[in-house]
Amino acid sequence: MGLQHIEGVWEVEKLCFTTPWSKESFEKEVTDNNFAFYLVVLDPQKEDKVVAYVGSWLILDECHITNVAVHPEYKRLGIACGLLKILQDTVKLRGILRITLEVRKSNDPAKDLYKKLGFYEEGIRKGYYSDNNEDAIIMWLNLS
Ligand SMILES: CC(C)(COP(=O)(O)OP(=O)(O)OC[C@H]1O[C@@H](n2cnc3c(N)ncnc32)[C@H](O)[C@@H]1OP(=O)(O)O)[C@@H](O)C(=O)NCCC(=O)NCCS
Repeated sequence: MGLQHIEGVWEVEKLCFTTPWSKESFEKEVTDNNFAFYLVVLDPQKEDKVVAYVGSWLILDECHITNVAVHPEYKRLGIACGLLKILQDTVKLRGILRITLEVRKSNDPAKDLYKKLGFYEEGIRKGYYSDNNEDAIIMWLNLS
């Protein structure tokens, strides 16, 4: 992801989340955060419109996924699955051994996606989401 993709990423973010990150947060990730590693998916038939993205922080040998989202018009096409597989392959080449993330307890589509990719549940953060006090499920994937 480069600065040229931020507007499109933010559009997808607003469509996908009830408490979206601000545009400035994404800009800071690109310009100020040396740990941040983001990938975007573009639609070449729509002037390279941003249709999906994944954000992560690479810390020592762990990759912490911060957000994954697919534009509603592009869901169930295998885009998230493909994007996360590319993330796995890419960060593995950078020495990452494990990937982790938090997901809302009620977010069955995302939990199914992660399980399909081999993530397993390991722990709960009680009341992690401040908008509705929902618990977060912590998931991990070993890359070795
Ligand atoms: C979750 C999300 C990223 C999935 O993106 P996607 O590109 O539609 O997912 P894919 O087409 O790659 O689906 C891969 C697998 O995920 C699971 N899955 C995806 N959407 C699902 C749904 N609505 N219901 C149940 N399972 C679903 C399935 O196992 C699917 O495999 P299958 O199609 O063979 O059944 C997308 O729905 C989204 O952006 N949601 C809003 C944002 C969000 O919740 N992000 C995750 C935060 S932790």
